[in-house]
Amino acid sequence: MKSSEIRSAFINYFKKNGHTVVPSSSLIPENDPTLLFANAGMNQFKNTFLGLEKRDYTRAVSSQKVVRAGGKHNDLENVGFTARHHTFFEMVGNFSFGDYFKKDAIRFAWEFLTKELNIPKEKLYVTVHLSDDEAADIWHQQEGVPRERIFRFDKDNFWKMGDTGPCGPCTEIFYDHGPKAGRESDPYKGIAAGEDRFVEIWNLVFMQYLENPPGTMTPLPKPSVDTGGGLERMTAAMQGKFNNFDTDLFAPMIERACKIGGFEYVSDVEVLAKNPDIRERTAAIRVLADHSRSTGFLIADGALPSNEGRGYVLRRIMRRAIRYGHKLNDKHSFLPAMVESMIDHMGDVYPELQARKVHILSTVKDEETRFMTTLDQGSHILNDEIAKAKAKGQKSLSGEVLFKLYDTYGFPVDLTALIAAEKGFTVDEAAFEKEMEAARTKARASWKGKGMQADEAHMLKFAQDYSTKCGPTKFTGYDSTTAQCEVIALSDGTKEVKSLKAGQSGLLVVNKTPFYAEGGGQVGDQGVMKTSGCTVNVHNTTKSSDIHLHHVEVESGEIKVGDTMHTHVADSVRRNTMSNHSATHLMHSALRKVLGPHVTQAGSLVDATRTRFDFTHNKALTTDEISQIESLVNEEIGKGQDVKAEVMGHKEAINKGAMALFGEKYGDQVRVLTMGDFSCELCGGTHVKNTAQIRMFKVISEGGVSAGVRRIEAITGDLAVQYALYGIQQNQQARSAAGLDSAWAHFTTHATADTAVAPWIETKKTEIKNLEKEIKKLQGGQINVDELANKAQNFNTKAGAAKLVLADVALDDRQVLAEVTDHLKNKIQKGIVVVIGQGEDSHPVIVSVSKDITGEYSAGNLLKEVAAVMGGKGGGRPDFAQGAAPDRTKIADAFKKVQQILGV
Ligand code: ALA
Repeated sequence: MKSSEIRSAFINYFKKNGHTVVPSSSLIPENDPTLLFANAGMNQFKNTFLGLEKRDYTRAVSSQKVVRAGGKHNDLENVGFTARHHTFFEMVGNFSFGDYFKKDAIRFAWEFLTKELNIPKEKLYVTVHLSDDEAADIWHQQEGVPRERIFRFDKDNFWKMGDTGPCGPCTEIFYDHGPKAGRESDPYKGIAAGEDRFVEIWNLVFMQYLENPPGTMTPLPKPSVDTGGGLERMTAAMQGKFNNFDTDLFAPMIERACKIGGFEYVSDVEVLAKNPDIRERTAAIRVLADHSRSTGFLIADGALPSNEGRGYVLRRIMRRAIRYGHKLNDKHSFLPAMVESMIDHMGDVYPELQARKVHILSTVKDEETRFMTTLDQGSHILNDEIAKAKAKGQKSLSGEVLFKLYDTYGFPVDLTALIAAEKGFTVDEAAFEKEMEAARTKARASWKGKGMQADEAHMLKFAQDYSTKCGPTKFTGYDSTTAQCEVIALSDGTKEVKSLKAGQSGLLVVNKTPFYAEGGGQVGDQGVMKTSGCTVNVHNTTKSSDIHLHHVEVESGEIKVGDTMHTHVADSVRRNTMSNHSATHLMHSALRKVLGPHVTQAGSLVDATRTRFDFTHNKALTTDEISQIESLVNEEIGKGQDVKAEVMGHKEAINKGAMALFGEKYGDQVRVLTMGDFSCELCGGTHVKNTAQIRMFKVISEGGVSAGVRRIEAITGDLAVQYALYGIQQNQQARSAAGLDSAWAHFTTHATADTAVAPWIETKKTEIKNLEKEIKKLQGGQINVDELANKAQNFNTKAGAAKLVLADVALDDRQVLAEVTDHLKNKIQKGIVVVIGQGEDSHPVIVSVSKDITGEYSAGNLLKEVAAVMGGKGGGRPDFAQGAAPDRTKIADAFKKVQQILGV
């Protein structure tokens, strides 16, 4: 059975059994700061399990994209070296939200495996939690699994999403790959030891508790079910392979690697056991095959390699893969080509890969180039450090060295550890963490953020507590910017409090609010809240666990929990923000129309002053393209299209053609925003009611952000109008200075206003040039050449009597001075002319020698002597030389020097 058939068999089986098919959520979790990447199929249903979010179904099935690298479930180091660990994998799972529980969950799983997939029962074992007699009985009595094939474990049979969140006991199903797959033949021991022979293919979690804070369990509103099976492991079992990498899921990437490197992929366990070189090669190919999947999928979902947070984990994965590629063959590049094969192979099931292919590949290539340039240099430094440590008799590399390699050469610490381990060295990761913390503290100290900086851990817990107690904050701000609200909780930023007094800052939670909370690229609202005796300024609004957190400062009086406040969002700020947000949607569509459908949003920031939009595109936009985009958007503004917001099912929205963006939460119910037939996007932000309210759209900058990503900044509304009026005013002033008719009069008579000033400027430039020439001529003419020539002194040369002219001229222009020198030389016929001009800081010096005596006196040498007296220098030909000198007070000495040389 092909992996794609197993995937569809799973989905179809549960669909047939009343489950709604839900698409995979993005790998980048929305609004869940407790999670680095989607790490299980249940992530997108977290709030449904907690009873905070209602869905119109109680049974769901999905095939979820999962990355387990960094964070709680971290498999990175194992990948490539075991048969079944991956950074990226597909988790197929079925879910019950207070619908069925243990009995049906077990029945479905057993029926699917033994009837739909026809796996022989003798190949399967199950485990349950130590305390879970009920599950053990169901396995035995309901499904007939012999008691000796049911094992009990403690921690391994209790599943948690993270340090906090929904959790519960679980039952796991194991597949026995047979005696060839591992040494341990006892299934209990094999399972306990995580042996390759007995592989967990499915985990059924009986969701019963919420753990929050860590260590504290409270029962969930309704017992639920969350299951997850690795598609890769099920496929290996079905295809009779011991190793997931030998299934059809990895074949295209492995084939590509072999083609590039000109080698063979050997997976026979016995051959590998005997040949360390082949073993190393196979492991490297597997690392690359695995990492090409996480790399491609993460970039498709909006991650970019960087030195912080999620981007850093991605960079670690990519650099680990690139280095293994380098080890396979340092003349070839593997990762980009393997990612490409992966996209071609998986693009049908996950269309985001195909849609963002160009962007994904250029990001991978760019990261490879960046890393290759530092790899050699960094390896050099690392080898030096290893040699130094060896000389000192040390066996471990210090935190300082790790940090230097990380900070300067982009070596992720696990990569340094890997290279060091190959040379028999360990690394001091704890010391590295200390160095990192010190660097972060330094960065924080230089960050002069305004307003209160709340303690993040406190903020998270504060919001979670109120979310559990009172449910999500009701947002009323789509229709109105004012509301009467009740204060339900207050915090001073580090702990919960009952009141805040004048001068204090903190966080405020109300039952309902018109304040938009930062999200989907739009900044949080600002404004005021008032009671009769108290005024509170809201500086920002954010959201955590569906609770709106108002970041406030009390201006006067005292605010207490239980107070009713009149709240008011700052009107002009919100109005301009809405205008910028709606224009962003129009711009997104316009970009796709002008540049092509490969354009997808890669990030955005919308506030009251502007919209900043990042998108995938490989080259700079031309002026013409920018004008086309401006015109398209302004046309849509002019049409005065109503902006419609509708809430509908996710599938219906996608069928309607709505563009799905990064940074939006995709529940099963989504908000779809439509502007005529020009734009249709999923969006939770606040928008104008009609496009005419945007008034005007103007691009103010365009540039590159990273490989394959461009950024446009644009303005709308009040600011765009002010900008346009300012431009017109400048144009009027330039015209009136130029003596041209007013712009308006010109526009009405010439139809286009844009070319009139440009030719005028060109004419003026030519006029100025001519005038300058004229001035020079006049300046030259003012010098009385005859008088200077008359003062010439006689001296003797080998070619007979000659004349010396020494001229002190109050002029700076070299061209004029050169002309004067020539005139003088013509007058004296035979001899030498020395002219010293007058500049601001430096003064021109010119020496000219008539041709007939250049054998005896060189202009270049004379000039050097003269200029040196005045602290300057210069050079030139035997008959003409020029230079510059700063000290004009020495002019008499300079002239004397010439006389001395010539014997005048
Ligand atoms: N959430 C469970 C797991 O990831 C099914 O194993």
